[in-house]
Amino acid sequence: MAEFTLPKNSKIKKGKHYKAPEGATNTKTLGVYRWSPDDGENPRVDTYEVDLDTCGPMVLDALIKIKNEMDSTVTFRRSCREGVCGSCAMNIDGKNGLACTTGIDEVKEGAQITPLPHMDVVKDLVPDMTNFYAQYASIEPWMKTKSATPPDSERLQSHEDREKLDGLYECILCACCSTSCPSYWWNQDRYLGPAVLLQAYRWLVDSRDEYTGERLDDLEDPFRLYRCHTIMNCAQACPKGLNPAKAIAEIKRMMVERRT
Ligand code: SF4
Ligand code: SF4
Ligand code: FES
Repeated sequence: MAEFTLPKNSKIKKGKHYKAPEGATNTKTLGVYRWSPDDGENPRVDTYEVDLDTCGPMVLDALIKIKNEMDSTVTFRRSCREGVCGSCAMNIDGKNGLACTTGIDEVKEGAQITPLPHMDVVKDLVPDMTNFYAQYASIEPWMKTKSATPPDSERLQSHEDREKLDGLYECILCACCSTSCPSYWWNQDRYLGPAVLLQAYRWLVDSRDEYTGERLDDLEDPFRLYRCHTIMNCAQACPKGLNPAKAIAEIKRMMVERRT
């Protein structure tokens, strides 16, 4: 087994090491970021030697095993365990992703698991999503209409118009993209970031929504929209294979088109 090492410039200290049960022969050691607001201690990385022969295949399975059998104080969010709720987003071996859809065999021996980058930490692997959700609420992510509701049908949409939502509606708001975006790291108080802008675009292109102009007015701001510099980290980070940078480029195109 390779010894777990922190990067040379890491300011985080190594913490406790938890061994696999006696006799385990197929193990992988994972480093988990630990910080609690309650103990006054600096952050540390505790290491856990996980017995893979008695563990499910995903990183989330390893975290659940660690919590259930090795150290009940480890804290993380999860719910669906199948990539649809977005709550287990974290940085795994240097890459943002979902713990429930990342295989343990995809990460190296001694891989570090840390919270999503550049977010305040509530505890251990749990980031504070308050600002992210407030930004999401600020784009009013629901259908807004001006015309009277049709008396005898729902608001219908052609197949072609429905297809415009493909690549957008699948977003699970996990924030893997926004927290991989350098522009968001430095300006998250004012820049909406790729996830929220992808959601904004989802309503801008919905043929049933009648507030397109007002939505564009709301985004016409040097910080809310125009901090995207097409670095493309967002598209690489998205565990659902979506492309927020493309959605942002489409919003910018709509801005130009309405001026001409
Ligand atoms: S393309 Fe834009 S939103 Fe995506 S990572 Fe780059 S700067 Fe951020
Ligand atoms: S676009 Fe992808 S990475 Fe970003 S919040 Fe949505 S699902 Fe997550
Ligand atoms: S637990 Fe729901 S996406 Fe991972």
